[in-house]
Amino acid sequence: MKFINPYLFIVTTFFLVSCTSQKEKLSLKDAYKNDFLIGTALNAGQIEAKNAKEDSLIKKEFNAITAENIMKSMYVHPQKDQYDFALSDKYVAYGEKNKMFIHGHTLIWHSQLAPWMEKIADSTEMKAFMKDHITTIVSKYKGRINSWDVVNEALNDDGTLRQSVFLKTLGEKYLIDAFKLAAKADPKVDLYYNDYNIEEPAKRAGAIALIKKIKAAGGKIDGVGIQGHWRLESPSIEEIEKSILEYSALGIKVAFTELDITVLPNPWDLKGADVNQKFEGNAKMNPYPEKLPDSIQTKLAERYASIFKLFLKHKDKISRITFWGVYDGQSWLNDWPIKGRTNYPLPFDKDLKHKPAYESILKLKKKEE
Ligand code: XIL
Repeated sequence: MKFINPYLFIVTTFFLVSCTSQKEKLSLKDAYKNDFLIGTALNAGQIEAKNAKEDSLIKKEFNAITAENIMKSMYVHPQKDQYDFALSDKYVAYGEKNKMFIHGHTLIWHSQLAPWMEKIADSTEMKAFMKDHITTIVSKYKGRINSWDVVNEALNDDGTLRQSVFLKTLGEKYLIDAFKLAAKADPKVDLYYNDYNIEEPAKRAGAIALIKKIKAAGGKIDGVGIQGHWRLESPSIEEIEKSILEYSALGIKVAFTELDITVLPNPWDLKGADVNQKFEGNAKMNPYPEKLPDSIQTKLAERYASIFKLFLKHKDKISRITFWGVYDGQSWLNDWPIKGRTNYPLPFDKDLKHKPAYESILKLKKKEE
């Protein structure tokens, strides 16, 4: 009978144990802790910690949170004289309990408005709405919410101002007023302009002009949020890099606030994230209902790696990278712009397991060591 060398046994066991615990310790937020915040968007169930597995993944991997829906005006301000803060109170408490960076999404946005807001037709009423809405919400969470999307999606793809209910009633001054009202309610909170496709040249030029205008009028704006609802092939790394450089040259922080990468075909080459665009589906538009083919899985991992490589290169200009959702099964891209598809846009799969995309994002940090 052969004897096991006790020395070798101890060394091997120690090695295996330390490898496993090392693996368990690794997380996105820890790996990137000296670079920028790593965030996720929480739905109502996640805010209420209804699923223990999801909850522990959120706490392990992320140090920043955004509310995916519950702070939008239709939920938080359903009637003119009625606010509903039940879930947003829980959201802020969740972030505080877990020592996370808490982002507010969003104050002034033309989508997901309460029906009574859509009916506002004159400037006096709209002015009163903006003042009441922004002041009430921002003051309520003063010193507890760390940054706000003050205005979301005010631009068209050509860089002109969107004909929203706000622009129609108040003219472009509403943008400056919104930032001033938010700064007055909480002078220390970081204030962001947030939009999709603002890494594309025409819309980027529009966003830069808008940010300059807000600053010139004495508004406080601390950052720009590039949503980052992207595709495997576009936007190019070059355009994203130009955007980081041009926005940060304005003296503001750059955040990527709603990152996800669709792997599904898009109708008419649709780009962006206009939540009001909806299309009929068919089998051709939902090619991977069961499983993502390995070749696409690899492409997605490579795409995430090249994006995060760029983020690391410019970490001094970037405040936060937030994924739009915790895992694939929960992503809004399963239902937008076509309902009922199976998409694979995030680093965690439908069973909350790490995807190759997750490993590729972590590997960049291991290489740096
Ligand atoms: C999306 C949510 O993820 C969906 O659950 C909801 O049905 C529609 O809105 N830009 C934004 C986000 O600023 O608020 C949107 O979120 C996605 C596009």
